[in-house]
Amino acid sequence: MAWSGGFGGAPFPTTSSQQNAASGLPFAGIPSEMRAGVERLVATEPDHGRSDVAFDPVEADHRPLTLRRLMARHRPVLVVAGLLVVIEALTLQAGPVLTQVGIDRGMDKGSWPTVLTVGVLFLVAVALTALAGWGRTVLTGRIAANMMYDLRLKVFAHLQRLSLDYYTDEKAGVIMTRMTSDIENLQQLLQDGLVQFAVQGLTMLVVTVLLFNYNVELALITVLVVVPALTALSLWFRTASDRAFGRVRDALAGVLSDLSESLAGVRLVTGFNRQPRNVVRHRNVVGAYREANDRTARLTAIYGPSSELLGIVGQAVVLLVGGTMVRDGTLSVGELTAFVLYLSAFFVPIQQLVQLYNTYQQGQASMAKLRQLLATEPSVAEAPDAVVLPPIVGEVVLEGVSFGYVPAAPVLHDVDLRIAPGESVCFVGPTGAGKSTVAKLITRFYDPTDGRVLIDGHDLRGVTLHSLRSQLGVVPQEPFLFAGSMRDNLAFGRPDATDAEVLEAVRLVGLDELVERLPEGLGTEVHERGVSLSSGERQLLALGRAFLARPRVLVLDEATSNLDLQSETKVEAALDVLLEGRTAILVAHRLSTAMRADRIAVVDGGRVVEVGAHPDLVALGGRYAEMYAAWAAHAGTAAP
Ligand SMILES: Nc1ncnc2c1ncn2[C@@H]1O[C@H](COP(=O)(O)OP(=O)(O)O)[C@@H](O)[C@H]1O
Ligand SMILES: [Mg+2]
Repeated sequence: MAWSGGFGGAPFPTTSSQQNAASGLPFAGIPSEMRAGVERLVATEPDHGRSDVAFDPVEADHRPLTLRRLMARHRPVLVVAGLLVVIEALTLQAGPVLTQVGIDRGMDKGSWPTVLTVGVLFLVAVALTALAGWGRTVLTGRIAANMMYDLRLKVFAHLQRLSLDYYTDEKAGVIMTRMTSDIENLQQLLQDGLVQFAVQGLTMLVVTVLLFNYNVELALITVLVVVPALTALSLWFRTASDRAFGRVRDALAGVLSDLSESLAGVRLVTGFNRQPRNVVRHRNVVGAYREANDRTARLTAIYGPSSELLGIVGQAVVLLVGGTMVRDGTLSVGELTAFVLYLSAFFVPIQQLVQLYNTYQQGQASMAKLRQLLATEPSVAEAPDAVVLPPIVGEVVLEGVSFGYVPAAPVLHDVDLRIAPGESVCFVGPTGAGKSTVAKLITRFYDPTDGRVLIDGHDLRGVTLHSLRSQLGVVPQEPFLFAGSMRDNLAFGRPDATDAEVLEAVRLVGLDELVERLPEGLGTEVHERGVSLSSGERQLLALGRAFLARPRVLVLDEATSNLDLQSETKVEAALDVLLEGRTAILVAHRLSTAMRADRIAVVDGGRVVEVGAHPDLVALGGRYAEMYAAWAAHAGTAAP
């Protein structure tokens, strides 16, 4: 259960082909003439590990996540990007001014040097615009990529920190959305959105000033005729699209939840012939997503052309009024041309800003979701004054422990139990009695509502999680395999274990035959979804994991329930070796397993109703004696 800190990660696991080569087996890997090339490639492969990101179970940083805080680290680059934006916005608007000068002072007066100068200046302005645009795109792209890197690591580290109850309450698909679409929305906002906001806002300002500068009357007409209509249209679009994009987000979360559930349950789906129903259900959630997207498209389809139409009407009015002014000689042709050109430049930012507002809204909504996730405190938190649990002897005490997953429904009631160092206690009882819950409290996956759980006299709430779990070994009811080799999976809790140690664990749990049979031995790849191991073999592997971690206290929750009788005999012999001198908390429904424990605790309805050694409990003639008699009759063996 011990996890290694930091994101540096485990060293590259040796590949199976390397191991084959080392053991003299046929090696069908990299041909020798290509090896040098491959090594060069590996050497240039970037290492994304960064030493400043580490996993800390008690995070000191409790300030809420905001855009400002995300950007704070990149302020100097942002300032440069901002300057480039200003240059871009100014040079971009040089065109119409130069056109006006070219017409009025050059062409009208037949002064070709002026036309030439204006033309060259125009080229320079265009070049500057392009250069500034390139520079700020590169810079903001880099900032956005870095911010996303930080944010992803931050969120992932936080997910690692959260307690089990979070994962029971929150759908996996929803958590996936946080890491996919929410972070992508933010990326879009950061990469392009905010800068475009600045570019367009500034452009609008510059153009407005220029419009008034050219002709106050025409500018006023524009402002009074076109702007109110455009504003009303934009406000409507903003509100409507806000709602529409909210629906898109919800629908996408629905799609992902449904997908991840179908993937996780693929065996049951196949087994129960649920594929047709699943397809129908997925069709519904995807349908909702399609509707939502369709609605945003329809809104945009109304807004885009309508605002364009407004712009053209505005231009017509300006041409009409401006044309009269030119006829009367109060306005030059060049000025009217510049004005009309600026007028179109005036509408673009408005449209763009409204569209950007959506990006901004989505980014903010995603930010709020991520902020909420990051603000979720682990329910099983490490106390600020937690001490490192010294090497333990292994006394486990439950003292008046009551617990409920939800406060309204208590699962354990006032459990008292002392387990001596080196003693093994097996919990038996009907399904749902609370056996696994006791195991989860001892490993501090949850904290008791009332009472205390003590190890060697230390309240579990007062010791650091790392020091506690590095001395506990857990074999859960449903063993999980990680993508990687057999060896990686076995040495999960102790990546530094030697090959000899791994092989010893393999032998102890009786997996040696399997490992010999596997094509690449310990280097064979296994993974959770690939049904490469039977559930019994998975349990053996999980046991091997616990063996290797060499904990002082072992918690086995029905860890042998999926084994056939032959494997079980093997494992039980191995357990005798493993449990020797260790404190063990077992949960078993097979009484043959229970009988081997020093004491048996019968759990019923969340209470420990009987505790004692097997013969004593049989002699007592209570619940256990009843269970034992039933089991013995069923197994066809006489009670001893
Ligand atoms: N994560 C959970 N949230 C809410 N209730 C739970 C949760 N896990 C278990 N329970 C309930 O707690 C009771 C005891 O469960 P458990 O300890 O797993 O029983 P068992 O003795 O079979 O191992 C059961 O009624 C079960 O439904
Ligand atoms: Mg259970």
